[in-house]
Parts: sequence; C-alpha cells; structure tokens
Amino acid sequence: MKARRRLAVLPTPLHRLPALERKLGTGPLHLKRDDLTGFGVAGNKARPLEFLLGDALARGADTLVTAGAPSSNFIAAAALAARVCGLRCDILVAGAPTPVELASRSGARLLFTGADRDDLDRLVDEHAAKLRAEGRDPYPVPRGGATPVGALGFAAAAEELADQLAGDATVLIPTGSGASLAGFLAGQAAIGASWRTYGVSVSRPADRMRAEVLDLATRCAALAGTPAPDPRDLHLIDATGTGFGQVSDADRRAMRTVLDTEGILVDPTYGAKMFAALPTEAPAVLWHTGGLPWALKP
Ligand SMILES: Cc1ncc(COP(=O)(O)O)c(C=O)c1O
Repeated sequence: MKARRRLAVLPTPLHRLPALERKLGTGPLHLKRDDLTGFGVAGNKARPLEFLLGDALARGADTLVTAGAPSSNFIAAAALAARVCGLRCDILVAGAPTPVELASRSGARLLFTGADRDDLDRLVDEHAAKLRAEGRDPYPVPRGGATPVGALGFAAAAEELADQLAGDATVLIPTGSGASLAGFLAGQAAIGASWRTYGVSVSRPADRMRAEVLDLATRCAALAGTPAPDPRDLHLIDATGTGFGQVSDADRRAMRTVLDTEGILVDPTYGAKMFAALPTEAPAVLWHTGGLPWALKP
C-alpha cells in the first residue's frame, strides 16, 4: 500500500435508518457516515487526501497544487490537509473572486482563473510546470483528488465497509469527479465483495462518467496490485438534472425527509440527490459524503 498520512477518524459509523425505512416502506437502509470523518469539514474527501498527502510527503514535494469551483469541498479540505502537513498550497479556482471566498479560506494561495471548471485540470498541470521552472517541487492534484493514488482512499473504505456489513447490499455513492466511486470499485474487486454499486452522478452525464470511472478504477487497482474491477459491477444513476449544484424540489423534499425522520443533515449538491434516487433495492448502504458547509445554502 502507498504512503498514507492519517487525517480522518476511521472507521466512520455505519448505522440503520429505522424511521426513514418506516416512512418510505423500504427494507434495511444503512447510512455510512463519512460526514463524520472528523478532519475539518472534509467529509469523504479526507480519504483521498490521506493518500495524496502521504504520496506528496514521500516524494518530498513542497507545494500541493489543485483546483476546483469556489464552493468545492475538496479545495477547502486540500488546503487544510496541506497546512497540517507543512506544505504550501496553490489552488486554481474557477470563475471570478468573491469577497466571501477570499475571506473564508486562509492558508492556501487562491488563484482565480476565470476559467470553466472543465479547464482546471489542465491549468493545474501548467501551474505545476511553472512552479518547477521556479525551482519549487509541486505535487499536482486534479479536481476532486481524482488520481489512482487519491482513489486508494475509497479502496480502503470498501475494506472498512466489509468489516461493518454482513451480507449482500446495494451501495449508493454520490459521484462528482468519480474518485470515490472508482476507488470503491477497485476495493470491492480486491476483496471480492458482491455489492451492487451505484454512483449517483451529479455533475457529468452517466455515459461519460462510466468510461472515466472504469479507467480510474483500473489504474487504482493496478497501483494497489489487486485485480481489475469488473465493468459489470459499475452502475450509474444520472442525477445531473438541470445542472451541477442546481437544487430541485425533489432534492429539497429528500433533504427535509431525512432531517425530519432521522435528524440528519445532507447537503443539496450530493447527499440530497442520492436520497432523491431512493427507493432502491434493499438492503442498501447510502454513503453520506459530507458537504455540510453548503447544506443550508439553497
Ligand atoms: C460532499 C461530497 N460528496 C461527494 C463528492 C463526490 O466525490 P467524487 O469527486 O470522489 O466523486 C464530493 C466531491 O467533491 C463532495 O464534496
């Protein structure tokens, strides 16, 4: 296994949602509480960052270079992870600066690019090349930490789930960059678990997501030295709706139902869309990936 810098408090709890099960008339629903990873408010993103920072430190990098939208949970988590690991952090941000963003994030150098989100990964590489030319030693990380190293975080999470859950299940994972889903599939293949795994894709159409996730999962498994995932184990639910970050009435209802039945807050961008995708075949594991700083925004 690659170098790992522990950041999260693991394992995160896995528990049943009895009141929601009654309300929806479903079979067993389990919630995997990555909103409780306990590192800043990183949610699921604490997992890839453990391996990305481990690798950056092992390589003697001095600067983490990454990117995202101003509202990205990943960039906030990456900035904090770099800080506690003693690395500098340069973050390329999509769009134009806003006073809130400038005031609320400290530590990292924010470079507002004016670019679209889709251009950011290329800009990360260009920025890293510029830093190298200046004699620095950057560690470039694409949006969401979507590299084979970052995906190792969720490969380990699959093992964690296998220790907590007996028997077969449908697993639902909110999906943005696809790093979590890809890592999970690699981990699932490594332990030979027969879960039906669904990514709930909130930003990219399911057909495009499928190829990207399978490629990343295969590269993650190769890095871990474990069997390649079976493409038949990957299922995707297209939850892109009217666009990334757009909150529908169904999303609001789902957030409200989870809050009113179980007292659990889910975010509108990822968690709400996963709960809106219910009912699904039970027993099911719903992966609460965090994202709570934005939960009260819409
Ligand atoms: C709260 C939350 N949930 C889910 C995801 C999606 O994870 P991934 O990018 O690994 O697909 C993200 C990504 O930033 C996130 O912030």
